[in-house]
Amino acid sequence: MRVTISQIKEMKQAGEKIAMLTSYDYSTAKLVDTIDIPLILVGDSLGMVVLGYESTIPVTMEEMLHHTKAVVRGTKHAMIVGDMPFMTYHISIEDALRNAARFIQEGGAQAVKLEGGVTVAEKVRRIVECGIPVMGHIGLTPQSINQLGGYKIQGKSPEAAAGLLKDARALEDAGAFAIVLETVPAPLASLITQKVKIPTIGIGAGAGCDGQVQVINDLLGSFADFVPKHAKRYAKLSDIMSSAIGQYYKEVKEGAFPTAEHSFAMDESVLAQLS
Ligand code: KIV
Repeated sequence: MRVTISQIKEMKQAGEKIAMLTSYDYSTAKLVDTIDIPLILVGDSLGMVVLGYESTIPVTMEEMLHHTKAVVRGTKHAMIVGDMPFMTYHISIEDALRNAARFIQEGGAQAVKLEGGVTVAEKVRRIVECGIPVMGHIGLTPQSINQLGGYKIQGKSPEAAAGLLKDARALEDAGAFAIVLETVPAPLASLITQKVKIPTIGIGAGAGCDGQVQVINDLLGSFADFVPKHAKRYAKLSDIMSSAIGQYYKEVKEGAFPTAEHSFAMDESVLAQLS
């Protein structure tokens, strides 16, 4: 059985911290799933850490579905949350419903995530009414990076802080089962966490959230372009990978790879018939 939204909500009530991670491919998701991580996000960060785009804005539904399917195939336990890409839920409620449904029907995800608060609350309500669990995402919303003017901390002024609290309440009222709080001051994230009944999942939002989410490539140190301030590197896989690739290159050049161990033998009499 996969983790359910009731279990995620119960974790908040029990004061149990929620660890969420992104994954984009079968083998990584399979590893994450063995660690009992209850929520795996197929984030549109895919665009930056896997596909090499400059932001999440170019990511398409087809790209998201392709990777969501791979993550679903690699997992049995975690709830898989598909991240709705830019402009797939903005134009109309019909669009939002159709694209959310694609994540569930075609992608095999159990929930979707979308960015925004008050402005998307009606869409969240309608998606939830169709039986699709929705995770909200407020604070720094990378799909609005051009409007926000950069990857800046959100909610610092009294108006902005009040706006974020209003957004969180609107998402809760609309039926979202959890809310990502990205790059907001830790005290504000703690306050929002106390004011809503659904779990908050922080990224750059301090320890007061009910859970944390990280981009797996940041945590593993396999994305070397930049390290966001909110990310902790638990490993530096890029160094390990470079060293392994370098060693392979050297051994091929020197004829040291492959050896008999990596080769296949055949009956010599068959070979003799050819000469
Ligand atoms: O796309 C993503 O990975 C995300 C997380 C950073 C929350 O939205």
